[in-house]
Amino acid sequence: MTATTTTSITTALLHLSTLLHLSTTAFSIGVNYGTLANDLPSPSQVASFLKTQTIIDSIKIFDTNPDILRGFANTNITVTVTVGNGDIPALVDANAAGRWVANNIEQFYPQTRIKLIAVGNEILFSGNKEWISHLVPCMKSLHQALVRAGINDVKVSTPYTLGILQTSVQPSAARIKPAYGKVVFAPMLEFLRQTKSPLLVNPYPYFSYARSMEDYILFKPNPGFHDDNTNITYTNMFVAMMDAVYSAIKAMGYDDLDIVVAESGWPSLGDPNQPMCTVENAVLYNKNMIKVVTSGEGTPLMPKRRFETYVFALFNENLKPGTAAERNWGLFRPDFSPVYDVGILSNIGKQADSPLPSPTTSKTWSEPKVNASGKASQANKGYVCIQGAHCKPIQTGGSSFNPNNIRSHASLLIPLIMIWFDRGELEAHLGGQPAIAQPLFCTCSYSTRIVENYRPI
Ligand SMILES: *[C@@H]1O[C@H](CO)[C@@H](O)[C@H](O)[C@H]1NC(C)=O
Ligand SMILES: *[C@@H]1O[C@H](CO)[C@@H](O)[C@H](O)[C@H]1NC(C)=O
Ligand SMILES: *[C@@H]1O[C@H](CO)[C@@H](O)[C@H](O)[C@H]1NC(C)=O
Repeated sequence: MTATTTTSITTALLHLSTLLHLSTTAFSIGVNYGTLANDLPSPSQVASFLKTQTIIDSIKIFDTNPDILRGFANTNITVTVTVGNGDIPALVDANAAGRWVANNIEQFYPQTRIKLIAVGNEILFSGNKEWISHLVPCMKSLHQALVRAGINDVKVSTPYTLGILQTSVQPSAARIKPAYGKVVFAPMLEFLRQTKSPLLVNPYPYFSYARSMEDYILFKPNPGFHDDNTNITYTNMFVAMMDAVYSAIKAMGYDDLDIVVAESGWPSLGDPNQPMCTVENAVLYNKNMIKVVTSGEGTPLMPKRRFETYVFALFNENLKPGTAAERNWGLFRPDFSPVYDVGILSNIGKQADSPLPSPTTSKTWSEPKVNASGKASQANKGYVCIQGAHCKPIQTGGSSFNPNNIRSHASLLIPLIMIWFDRGELEAHLGGQPAIAQPLFCTCSYSTRIVENYRPI
């Protein structure tokens, strides 16, 4: 072999490694690290796995688990922590907020790159007036406590379901429900702007699944839905949901806020009556959703924007109550084997000879903090509704409500599509036709409850 050939091979290899490097750093993504399981590896093993085998650079947890906060120290992986829903009212008090920040943030920061405090989870969805009325004061109080502690780069925000939006046919016409607008939302948006914090939303096309909508929901080719106000045709629900959120905050004068996708995902396995829960669909949804948020193309109303995004979820969680789907949202199994790959394994991770951290079932750490029947008693221990929007719609036949007529109306209502929460709103859209009651079975917010939910189909 001549020297020239060697040089050109070396050059080629250099190019190749640059390409590989580029492809590993082309985008990064976050995950929700839920822990309702008794077979998960220890947080430090999880940290090391994410760091060395994946392109995941940020996690969101549903509490302030000190084991996780310690486990992620010095990894450069950012962490979003969550304040327990039940802790919100008390933390309005400045002293309480100061103690909370000392115990849950200062102790671990900055070795652990805590980035954001999510105040509760889907508080408006909870319907709990006590939590809702104290939400914004609590956010302010925690922010002030951070400032007093000299911590200036930890943001404070709170995740919302798309139930905050009024029933809306077109993304451009989406608005915050008037009941929340002035009281909670306007001061919250102002707080976010002043503190340069993002709006957190949990868009879940999965919960609007209908067979007739499958192509639109799963990013398959479809004719799309036309927004007459903007002349934009939406060919998938996720993008329509993002533009709906944007339109709603723009209408209130806050289109400058960053929008973070705090949760979204798709279960890879479900019960026999959940045929939409397949690996194939989970790959389709997550892969395309990740492409939308990371490509830099943005959405029609938010061109060229990237969205910080947290896929739900990191692991399959074997102790989550409810249907099989609830336990199968994970990208990974507890032994770190991928359920499927949507491009988040780093190139290192893809090499066959690269050792994975040894699989383990560390019993010392992984004892679940809560169980299905014991949630209420955990209310004061910072337990947060991990399920939130993950409440399975229970089909209630509903054939007595003129389904044919409603279906035909429904086709007009499909464009935005979100979970319909409010019967009155939906029926108004249906021209007075009654909507089908479709209760959501929620085992969230410390206790099992049924939330009224209505759909046109
Ligand atoms: C840590 O992560 C940030 C991106 O969040 C990156 O810019 C920085 O270079 C990283 N630092 C180290 C030491 O890896
Ligand atoms: C809407 O889009 C169609 C097709 O692209 C175009 O022909 C039409 O002129 C547009 N209308 C408006 C009002 O922009
Ligand atoms: C669940 O929690 C309740 C209340 O804390 C407790 O009585 C029960 O034994 C727990 N069940 C399991 C399976 O751990």
